[in-house]
Amino acid sequence: MEQLNEEIEQIMQTYPGKPEYLIFLLQDIQDKAGYISPESMQLVSEHTGVPLTQAYSVATFYQSFRLEPRGDHDIRVCLGTACHLKGGQRITEELERRLNVQAGETTEDQRFTLSTVNCVGACALAPVVVVDDEYEPHVTAKKLDRKLKILEHEFDENKEGGPDA
Ligand code: FES
Repeated sequence: MEQLNEEIEQIMQTYPGKPEYLIFLLQDIQDKAGYISPESMQLVSEHTGVPLTQAYSVATFYQSFRLEPRGDHDIRVCLGTACHLKGGQRITEELERRLNVQAGETTEDQRFTLSTVNCVGACALAPVVVVDDEYEPHVTAKKLDRKLKILEHEFDENKEGGPDA
């Protein structure tokens, strides 16, 4: 954590303290930390002179900015027209039940972040779910369940074998 703070501090020094660097700073911080914490937002606001509420408005306007920590695995259900017609909404609801979160949230154990997206450009493969940038074509609840079990197993193994074990 301390190292992360130092790295964020370094990012701050990379850009002059001017409002026009707000987005660059937010982008770099997100690349480094995975999301933009309230503390980082405060630092960016002070550094650039952009009022905090305005910095938040910018960050929430661009969907690519994340203000919450992400889980280890990213699950994005496509809800574009083709996927929606092929059951994307039902898949979302099944995943919400299975993971006990709403779309847009991260599981309590930080394993998974579930979100919905518009067309991911693979309509012929509908319904599509993207798991950690890997496309799962013609997805079914059963297929997804299998995939999640593998990821859960890997997560547990990493935890057991990790430095805190
Ligand atoms: S609508 Fe899902 S990939 Fe196009």
